[in-house]
Amino acid sequence: MSILSTALERVKPSPTIAISTKAAELKAAGRDVIALAAGEPDFDTPDHIKAAAVKAIAEGKTKYTAPDGMPELKQAICAKFLRENSLTYSPAQVTVGNGGKQTLYNAFIATLNAGDEVVIPAPYWVSYPDMVLLAGGTPVIAPTSQETNYKLTPAQLEAALTPKTKWFIFNSPSNPTGAGYSWDELKALTDVLLRHPHVWVMTDDMYEHLAYDDFKFCTPAEVEPALYPRTLTCNGVSKAYAMTGWRIGYAAGPEPLIAAMRKIQSQSTSNPCTISQWAAVEALNGPQEFLTENNASFSRRRDLVVKILNETKGITCPTPEGAFYVYPSIAALIGKQTASGTVITDDETFATELLEQTGVAVVFGAAFGLSPNFRVSYATSDAELLEACTRIKEFCENLI
Ligand SMILES: Cc1ncc(COP(=O)(O)O)c(C=O)c1O
Repeated sequence: MSILSTALERVKPSPTIAISTKAAELKAAGRDVIALAAGEPDFDTPDHIKAAAVKAIAEGKTKYTAPDGMPELKQAICAKFLRENSLTYSPAQVTVGNGGKQTLYNAFIATLNAGDEVVIPAPYWVSYPDMVLLAGGTPVIAPTSQETNYKLTPAQLEAALTPKTKWFIFNSPSNPTGAGYSWDELKALTDVLLRHPHVWVMTDDMYEHLAYDDFKFCTPAEVEPALYPRTLTCNGVSKAYAMTGWRIGYAAGPEPLIAAMRKIQSQSTSNPCTISQWAAVEALNGPQEFLTENNASFSRRRDLVVKILNETKGITCPTPEGAFYVYPSIAALIGKQTASGTVITDDETFATELLEQTGVAVVFGAAFGLSPNFRVSYATSDAELLEACTRIKEFCENLI
């Protein structure tokens, strides 16, 4: 009898972590590596947020809190939803987890039975299908295309829904494409959902504040209030507030669902780190001006990357509305060869050869369920991005 559970056979380790590890190994071996694979900002956590954590420690706020978050943080989250999304939630409708990842995972564990389907537009954040599988559900992948900048159309959503659909996952701006849905684009999707009253919406708004040019973020329960009773609105402080290591994510939705998620967390991890919760209170209630400054850097970097990639023969790259990713297509490079004779049969071979020959680490599209593409994370310095994109261009143009 194996010591390992059969549930484990359903999932694979995170491919983004695998690539970051490979890049780190090459770097340790003395190679000149530029990693464009990680999903976190290069900025430091702002000082006022760090100070709130130091103050919490000094004041002895270092004990357990309620399992799914302390009242002060739930209040700050309710205020944020009202202020930024015109959504009214009470503290009893809010749950706080160890990062956005735990919140999403709790929701699946709390709701999925064998045979329940979860519609996931592709390309998707790598963890969605595996979380669904671990929870015993069935991921139903709804592929998008480059023609719509990788945004799901109402017809594609309609085609993916069945009587077994329990959740539709919506992520805008998206990891890995950066695509953000306008109010009208989202309304067209919520109109479809109105016709399917058994389907719930899990909206992953992790990149809400990372939006550029004149893009205006919106979230399903705001766009279609009739969906409020069957929407779980998920968010977190990791990305916008440069707090990936602090591990605070949160969600709001109907009380019975939140209570079920609390039950799971209370029997697994209990409360997220108390000190991080105090830091998150400051992140949400404190000054927000630095977000505009950070976004100016991100949008400048996005423009730099999109420009060089689109100048590269064989690559096409849409300009995304938000997040810190671009998702170029390499369809025109499939079948070409490197100078040493390796045929680029798919995007995984492309990413492996790119890393080995140029030291640039990107994540291949198959990891996100839509090929042939690769994901560039541009959350790194302009100088590194310029160097990395120049190497990508040279690599592609040397393919024969
Ligand atoms: C789309 C998306 N959702 C959720 C998360 C999880 O964030 P956290 O670090 O808060 O767990 C990530 C992190 O990469 C993400 O890209």
